[in-house]
Amino acid sequence: MTIPGKPLRAPLRPVQDARSWTPGSWHAHPAAQMPHYDDPAEMQAALDELGRLPPLVTSWEVLDLKQLLADAQLGRRFLLQGGDCAETFADCNNEVIANRLKVLLQMSLVLVHGLRVPVLRVGRFAGQYAKPRSTDTETIDGVTLPVYRGDLVNGPEFTPAARRADPRRMLEGHARSAMTMNFVRALVSGGFADLHHPEYWNLAWVERSPLAAEYRRMVDGISGAMHFMETLAGPIGGFRRADFYTSHEALLLPYEQALTRQVPRQWGWFDLSTHFPWIGMRTAALDGAHVEFCRGIRNPVAIKVGPAMHPDQLQELVDVLNPDDEPGRLTLIHRMGAGGIAQHLPRLIEAVQATGRRVLWVCDPMHGNTERLGTGVKTRRFANIRSELEQAFDIHAAAGSRLGGVHLELTGEDVTECLGGARNLSEADLGRAYKSTVDPRLNYEQSLELAMLIVRKSGFAAR
Ligand code: PEP
Ligand code: CO
Repeated sequence: MTIPGKPLRAPLRPVQDARSWTPGSWHAHPAAQMPHYDDPAEMQAALDELGRLPPLVTSWEVLDLKQLLADAQLGRRFLLQGGDCAETFADCNNEVIANRLKVLLQMSLVLVHGLRVPVLRVGRFAGQYAKPRSTDTETIDGVTLPVYRGDLVNGPEFTPAARRADPRRMLEGHARSAMTMNFVRALVSGGFADLHHPEYWNLAWVERSPLAAEYRRMVDGISGAMHFMETLAGPIGGFRRADFYTSHEALLLPYEQALTRQVPRQWGWFDLSTHFPWIGMRTAALDGAHVEFCRGIRNPVAIKVGPAMHPDQLQELVDVLNPDDEPGRLTLIHRMGAGGIAQHLPRLIEAVQATGRRVLWVCDPMHGNTERLGTGVKTRRFANIRSELEQAFDIHAAAGSRLGGVHLELTGEDVTECLGGARNLSEADLGRAYKSTVDPRLNYEQSLELAMLIVRKSGFAAR
């Protein structure tokens, strides 16, 4: 058990020695959740090709983000991280990308307005193509095939051809990520995110939603304030663009390694497949390959923290992933479930406080609240998502800590995957527009409602 004030127990295993890290040193560690590729020559050819392709992000963007995350650690920003559970190659299209951006922009507007701090926007997109699974195989009618591990690895159809791990998919994933990035960058720098025109972001629902009036009042308030300031001070350019950073689970390590590069005038290595990779709950073993890979890259990294995480283990992870206590480097995303957070989170907060190290605490109220209905459909109840998030604010405050952000699975599409919310979606509604291939996502209306609840709950607004 953790004793507050107790210094972090060093000595770490020699294999964790910083000097021995290379982009491929993870190969010497047990790698959970890795697909089996059956043709080594084909795999090598794909990785060689990937290694020659341009990166998806730049080192200076990565370092800028780290600085912004350091601000968030000090309470000067709030992190909004959201997007699909799993992107699919098929959904790499104009509408899906623009709608996801719209809902994230709308949510960030609600949060900025209510929290009175800048919001740091990080998408779960442009690379969220690999998924951890609870089993390696799936059996239907006596036929057993490998599980679907995300479009970066194989296809969801239940056929031997689709389920084969195909290395060429890594090239396709890189290309689709680049297309997504390109479109997002063009939209946000081209006026799409212009605060003078929040009506550009309107999804059709704004007219129909029970929350529409509240949202419109807020947008009118912002427009009025902006008009007032510009009357006094002249046009304010900063309202024209919004920065977006990308993140995904760094799960498929051969892919991440091929995009890990050295750059001129910088020391060390950057994983340039994304700005902000995270380690999933199932791959967070201290000696595992994913922790080994992430400890050596210079990106900010996050780690998912579930109910099984032991305080000692979390202390060691903090030390391995951020030995120098670098600002902005480490984010802890807890995902305990509405029924488990009160039991599990306080001792983990205490354990991290005992190390004296800085982290950014973020709540993922989605992954601990997944349930399967009698019909076999996977869903999440809005009431549980809300409850976990509200408890998270209270637990951090009571521990003298701070919840610095949220991590959500959402979409700009009008899906019916999570139950409840302002429109009170029922089990019967789930059949109408259930599109996720993996986890159930908040639709845009539920997402915006959650943003409004965060504002009410956080107490920032009252300051
Ligand atoms: C996810 O974020 O989609 C996920 C699988 O999360 P976790 O690792 O927290 O289960
Ligand atoms: Co998920």
